[in-house]
Amino acid sequence: MGKITFPMPDDFHVHLREGRILESVIAATCGQFARSLVMPNTTAPIATADDAMRYEAAIRAVLPTDGKDFQPLLSIKLTDRTTPAIIRDATGRARVLAAKLYPAGVTTNSSDGVQDITSLYSVFEEMQRVDMVLSIHGELPGAFCLDREDAFLPTLERIATAFPSLRIVLEHITSKRAVEAIRSLRVGVVATITVHHLVLTLDDVVGDLIQPHHFCKPIPKTPADRAALVDAATSGDCRFFLGTDSAPHKNRNKAGDYGAAGVFSAPVALPLLVQCFEQYDQLDRIEAFCSRYGRGFYGLDATSRLITLRREKWTVPKSFGGLTPFWAGKDLSWQIADPPESFIKSWTRG
Ligand code: NCD
Ligand code: ZN
Repeated sequence: MGKITFPMPDDFHVHLREGRILESVIAATCGQFARSLVMPNTTAPIATADDAMRYEAAIRAVLPTDGKDFQPLLSIKLTDRTTPAIIRDATGRARVLAAKLYPAGVTTNSSDGVQDITSLYSVFEEMQRVDMVLSIHGELPGAFCLDREDAFLPTLERIATAFPSLRIVLEHITSKRAVEAIRSLRVGVVATITVHHLVLTLDDVVGDLIQPHHFCKPIPKTPADRAALVDAATSGDCRFFLGTDSAPHKNRNKAGDYGAAGVFSAPVALPLLVQCFEQYDQLDRIEAFCSRYGRGFYGLDATSRLITLRREKWTVPKSFGGLTPFWAGKDLSWQIADPPESFIKSWTRG
């Protein structure tokens, strides 16, 4: 098979950032995805309807002319200052689809995250009432770094039980136990899986020389954990769908005395995903994982747009819009057929 065509996917977890970086990264996402749920952990958080509408306008303002069909989907960040009224306003006035829970301090720009989750219960009640999705960065601060996701699972279960019709997404899962938890919890509790967690283990981060462009939260884990993620993504179970968690950082912030967490996977997201599904002989499951289950969960229409990838080997360049993309310098066996001009140009723009 030399070509594969499927409905243009949606990315249900992406960091587009702001300012210059937003302008650099947007071509990667709008060149491959019909819609993306944009994360709210900008420097000044997206925490209200007004913030979300301003952010949407900023994103639309930098969309390349060949990417105007792209639709950003909005989220807000839950903080200790979020109220039920903020939720009502965000869903009503700004069509915000999800509110994101970051336990305080657990990842990039989360120092204003939530200290005491039970203090948000009136907010969850309102989200349940208006049917806004609760999106969770599921790691317990303070636990040993490789155990943080598993240590959060009892909290997930408590929230799912206390709010029986709240729709919940456990984002970017990385462990076998998280996969098992999603399989065992009630209907309406689902998980996103990134492309990079399907291909990395901890060895690819620190097993030899440190690889800062593979460092992200939650940290990639063992081969058995990765195998469980591959199994979940390719199992045809609608509770698991794509959220790339593409999270660009400037190179000077990735390496140095301290390195920021986040993998900039968007530029290679679909070619790498196709390569991965093919490796496991599961290409017939890719469409459901990236173009069907997520939009089903979020209640979005199907898109009439299609995307085609063709089998042709290429080496991923070292820069996309001046930032280092995931898989830089390595080969991929698939590429986007007929990508928009803005996508092609970003590969060469230093
Ligand atoms: C993300 C970022 O850089 O914003 N980083 C990451 O390692 N995934 C935040 C997040 O989703 O945790
Ligand atoms: Zn993220």
